[in-house]
Amino acid sequence: MRPAGHPPKRITLSMSAAQGLLHNSDGYHRDDPQFSGPVTTREYLVDDVVGSSVTKKAASATLLVKTSVESAKTWFVVGAAIQTNKPFEALTFIYYHNTLDQITMSILITGGASQVGSVIAQQLKDADQNVIIGSRSGRVPQGFESVKLDWMDDSTFQNPFKISGIDIKSVYLLLPPGYVDPSDNIKQFIDIAASNGVKRFVLLSGSAVEKDAEFGISKVWKYLDEKKLDYFALRPTWFIDNFLEFHGKDIREHDEFKSVMPNAKIPLISVAEIGRVALKVFLSDKNERTDQRIIGPELITYDQVADILTEVLGRKITHKVVTPEELTDYYSKALGWPLNYAQFLVQAEQYVDAGSEERWWGNPENINGKETVREWAERNKINFAPASKV
Ligand SMILES: NC(=O)c1ccc[n+]([C@@H]2O[C@H](COP(=O)([O-])OP(=O)(O)OC[C@H]3O[C@@H](n4cnc5c(N)ncnc54)[C@H](OP(=O)(O)O)[C@@H]3O)[C@@H](O)[C@H]2O)c1
Repeated sequence: MRPAGHPPKRITLSMSAAQGLLHNSDGYHRDDPQFSGPVTTREYLVDDVVGSSVTKKAASATLLVKTSVESAKTWFVVGAAIQTNKPFEALTFIYYHNTLDQITMSILITGGASQVGSVIAQQLKDADQNVIIGSRSGRVPQGFESVKLDWMDDSTFQNPFKISGIDIKSVYLLLPPGYVDPSDNIKQFIDIAASNGVKRFVLLSGSAVEKDAEFGISKVWKYLDEKKLDYFALRPTWFIDNFLEFHGKDIREHDEFKSVMPNAKIPLISVAEIGRVALKVFLSDKNERTDQRIIGPELITYDQVADILTEVLGRKITHKVVTPEELTDYYSKALGWPLNYAQFLVQAEQYVDAGSEERWWGNPENINGKETVREWAERNKINFAPASKV
């Protein structure tokens, strides 16, 4: 057992394919062509590095680490012989893998299979990062490990930090849509995450949300700032992907989509582009900024989107302007959203129609995505197939 008040120590061991120890985080290292080839670097928790010994020919050294196996209540001494001087001779590599806790550094994506979270998870995986999905319902993107994490149930907040062999280094935070202000719960989770060694938080905010406002997202954003944590607030404008998420059913079934926005010009951004920004933030050593607006490459109206969808899908798609009441009814009845959330969204559309998203256009401070609505529609064409009409 590790003595009380004696925290585990992290060491990094890099192994060549030939199982030679190339270097460790305590400063020993060797560079021998015999051990060239793929190198894996892993972090381990040990109770202590207790010393090293040098062989009689001064050709190798032994790194001694102590580690405890709780179940056996036994102390182990692990020796790893490493070369200190050339020429290299008789490397006596004694390395008891099973007595060390191997740790995989991982990134936690909260919000289950959300639009943005799913894209970030896949992009991180493609970049060889280990990803864990925090999910309320168990609906997670295919091919990912998950853990129960429900923002409304604080008994689940420790779960990501209890996974054996996994150390969460960064977290993507999605506040649950449909709740008026869940910020106290998220703040509680942030404290738990920070005390468990999480180093960076990436928060999904929005282009129109300010840090000093009274929204739930603003309060979480301000908390990350006040706590002087390493964070980045993603501030995307409206998603092109809403045409699938909010309007896909209507387009598939009725060749139309509804809004209260006859005039709005919006620099629509695709979720894939937001994912690319998040990926860069997660992978960078240091963030120079703590937030940035993310907009798309064109300022576009919903009528223009209807024209593009008509051309790409090969059938007439209509943008139907309805009253706020009709749209609220559609969002709450057809899509099943809570009434107050449907009302909030419809009100947001009214602000956008008055020009609230258009004003970001041309600001050099923004991050500009490249994917156009047409490119996005081509990429997602299959998802608009009128299956119910066949
Ligand atoms: N749409 C836009 O144009 C736009 C523009 C700018 C910013 N945004 C921001 O983007 C947010 C939505 O992001 P998104 O589209 O990626 O999300 P999304 O696809 O709507 O997914 C929402 C997720 O929240 C999860 N969730 C709901 N309640 C939860 C709870 N109590 N605990 C844990 N998870 C819970 C759901 O998981 P389950 O499946 O497990 O229920 C679901 O996967 C908005 O709220 C807004 O802040 C949107």
